[in-house]
Amino acid sequence: MCGIFGYTGSAEAADLLIEGLSKLEYRGYDSAGISVLNGDIHTLKSAGNIAKLRERRSSVDVSGTSGIAHTRWATHGEPNETNSHPHHSNSNRYSLVHNGIIENYLEMKKDLIDKGFDFKSDTDTEVLVNYIEHLANETGKQPADLMPEILRDVKGSFAIALMDTKNPGVLIAARKGSPLIIGLDGNEQYLSSDPLALAQHCDSAIYLENRHYAVIAPGKKPAVYNERGLEIVAEVAVIDQMKDQITVDKGDFSHYTLKEIYEQPDIARQHVAESFQNHHILPELTHLKKELVAAKRLVVIGCGTSLHAGWMGRNYIERLAGIPVVVEQASEFRYGEPLLFENDIVIAVSQSGETADTMEGVRLVSSIRDLPVIGLCNVKGSTLYREASACLMLNAGPEIGVASTKAFMSQVLMFFRLAMHLADLKGYNAHEGLLDDFKKLPNLIEKTLKFNEATHEIAEKYKDSENMLFLGRGIQFPIAMEGALKVKELSYIHAEGYSSAEMKHGPLALIDEKFPTVVVATDSEQEGKNINTVKEISSRKGKVIALVQESSTRLANEADDYLMVPDIHDMLAPFLATIPLQLLSFHFAVLRGHNVDQPRNLAKSVTVE
Ligand code: M6R
Repeated sequence: MCGIFGYTGSAEAADLLIEGLSKLEYRGYDSAGISVLNGDIHTLKSAGNIAKLRERRSSVDVSGTSGIAHTRWATHGEPNETNSHPHHSNSNRYSLVHNGIIENYLEMKKDLIDKGFDFKSDTDTEVLVNYIEHLANETGKQPADLMPEILRDVKGSFAIALMDTKNPGVLIAARKGSPLIIGLDGNEQYLSSDPLALAQHCDSAIYLENRHYAVIAPGKKPAVYNERGLEIVAEVAVIDQMKDQITVDKGDFSHYTLKEIYEQPDIARQHVAESFQNHHILPELTHLKKELVAAKRLVVIGCGTSLHAGWMGRNYIERLAGIPVVVEQASEFRYGEPLLFENDIVIAVSQSGETADTMEGVRLVSSIRDLPVIGLCNVKGSTLYREASACLMLNAGPEIGVASTKAFMSQVLMFFRLAMHLADLKGYNAHEGLLDDFKKLPNLIEKTLKFNEATHEIAEKYKDSENMLFLGRGIQFPIAMEGALKVKELSYIHAEGYSSAEMKHGPLALIDEKFPTVVVATDSEQEGKNINTVKEISSRKGKVIALVQESSTRLANEADDYLMVPDIHDMLAPFLATIPLQLLSFHFAVLRGHNVDQPRNLAKSVTVE
């Protein structure tokens, strides 16, 4: 999703800004631009990627030591140069970059047109920068002093960075919903939507709180204000721990996504080692022990892949700890009227910790009842990390591929560990053989990756499909859903995840020789039922790819093709089943010539609803 970067100091800003934007690329964008102040504001913009912006850098004079920059993920208007940020006000006094959506921009625009302003773009951002100009002219106030009014009257969720020709070197940053961070490096200061883009420059940072704004200038301590305009003492966070996370390179891999798929054995190794070291207790939850012991129900919210991880969590927590779990799409939860009771605990799952719907769900909880919210999150310092009562860090390292792979693995591992923690509090013993196989899991994930070539062959065979179904039952169902999502977003093949048993209630009508189905059938207890599913499809001429444990030869023989994972305890098989589905999606995408790491139309961090 859109990314903001800003710099003010004594170095040439343009290169730093473009470099900063390149660190935000992974979030997803379709145009980019920078503004640098040097007497006037000099702006360079380009539709397409940052490489294009870099190419055009020498054709425009963008020298100067302060500036703002932006990667845009189109919401209002096409992804062309005119609509890309930064946007200037009519008099060219101000330049603005903006993340998020301004909900009342049409009313504002109409008012401004009536007052004589004109607009070149279709964006809500150009409306906001002119609104600021209008307010400043009308009231005679400095732009920073207008921020309380902006935060109050401008509806929606946004973060902005503003540059003013009359205040050289000064950048104004404001946050209402969307994240924004001030990076500190001696006399130089930065702005960024994402700590990843700051870590190479800064040791410390101020995470702007919701509805706060700040004024930064070289050599001065940032001045941070609350929504009423009162200056506050902002907490300065150390971002040193992030430095080891910022090796954002592909190593020997062709794509980040592939690298991240191959990082999964090590992620599992870390979880398994920590789990055994701590006797399957999560120390981060110590202060919530009373609430966890009393918990009558868990309510899990998340979006996309994180939602699927939540469904896996439900399976583990209900089966191992006997606590009922409801899982809801955060986007539905936040606009529903959720019934929340005493002794409920809410779990918010988000790789980025910034997903707008998930965060609004978290805020809705606190407006209804004072319940503990446990975050499962991969980004230290993110909004979820800071707003949750406790945060279980996924420690998967930065996930650059827009399609979530290793974060999903880590989320499900964390849910499994949470289930064991809760089982311990309830005095339940782990199922027989489960812990032994949990110890073997990292090596078995590694072994599963060795079947990559077989997955590639299947991808070759089915790459021209227009539609696919992914079926699973019980604990395999969320994996089928996640497999379908991965195939959709990476290969653009229309894919649906479905519960196997639901086939007869409608989707079976779709099946013909051109409509392949992947049956996730790694639960050996369910072998008979899974064979029936395969037969139902085969007898309608549908092609079936069965995903099975190595010893399930009967099932494999019933299908047209099969993908295999090593034998493991049925409850752990979903971890292994995840791998071939990720690889299948990856190979489809490469074979079909798509941008694997940044699929079209998608953003990594969905900070608008
Ligand atoms: O950062 P989050 O985990 O909150 O993101 C949620 C979804 O946007 C995300 O999982 C999305 O579905 C991915 N593209 C899936 O690969």
